[in-house]
Amino acid sequence: MSFPITRHRRLRGSAGIRGMVRETVLNVLDFVQPIFVTYGTGVKNEISSMPGVYHFSLDTLKAEVDEIAALGIPAVLLFGIPETKDAIGSSGFAEDGIVQEATRLIKQWYPELLVVADTCLCEFTDHGHCGMVHTHTVNGVVHGDVINDASLDLLTRTAVSQAKAGADIIAPSNMMDGFVHAIRAGLDENGFEHVPIMSYSVKYASAFYGPFREAADSAPQFGNRKTYQMDPANLREALREAESDVLEGADMLMVKPALAYLDVIRTIRDQFNLPLVAYNVSGEYSMVKAAAQQGWIDEQAVVLEMLTGMKRAGADIIITYFAKDAARWLRG
Ligand code: PBG
Repeated sequence: MSFPITRHRRLRGSAGIRGMVRETVLNVLDFVQPIFVTYGTGVKNEISSMPGVYHFSLDTLKAEVDEIAALGIPAVLLFGIPETKDAIGSSGFAEDGIVQEATRLIKQWYPELLVVADTCLCEFTDHGHCGMVHTHTVNGVVHGDVINDASLDLLTRTAVSQAKAGADIIAPSNMMDGFVHAIRAGLDENGFEHVPIMSYSVKYASAFYGPFREAADSAPQFGNRKTYQMDPANLREALREAESDVLEGADMLMVKPALAYLDVIRTIRDQFNLPLVAYNVSGEYSMVKAAAQQGWIDEQAVVLEMLTGMKRAGADIIITYFAKDAARWLRG
């Protein structure tokens, strides 16, 4: 009788021993919960493509934030749906903008809860692009592109207004060239040298953002985002994006989306020493919710497996619409 030389199963024999040798453990402290804020009163509207995710008006927001804080989730990421939109996204940097108002309230209610502000213009521009655009019309079809350097000034104003309102972390998601440098300079000049930048360094032009664009009403009205967000086929380009952000002063790097980009997360983790964020985006959420509603998958098990995979790939922090659920499940 010959025996296996190696018995891997010895370390899998009981929950106790599996726990002891587990290499990756999710922690509620890893999570950031996104929140959509809007005008009006008494609003708590479910986003149809994202069951369990809502638009909150400022008066219904408290209950949501109470729940997040009670679960021990350390941070929220704010997205705003403004009352009015224009060509330059001015409601994005208005002192009384929806994100600024929500930030002030949350910091009053929970000074310890970190408010992360998504710094972008697509929710606030009438054309839905992440910066200022030049357009021309040919045979009734609008063509245009985002003007990089002119957009930097608007994005910097947005970041500074968010910091003034009390945002703890500025998270620019616009993918203009030089945005980290411009925003860092703007923050420093305005006395916010202590506010860190969580840069969406490696953000792909992804179809997985579909449900978010319904949620944030931010779909581009012409064209797409391929001239500023990255081609999903590229990995070396991700290294160049991350490198420039490091040189420009980013405090944290991000890879977005997460599920189809775990190799990118691992590569960035291995090459850079800044904290790394994975963004488990809207489409990744919606797919799981849809399959779970059909009874085709075990939602809890699938979500915890996905989040564990992101952490194992090298993410230190995970932005996820599942943050509240995962926090509850981890408590058992
Ligand atoms: C803003 C922004 C987007 C997301 C986060 N910030 C949308 C986009 O780039 O089109 C997507 C988040 C998600 O899908 O969950 N630029």
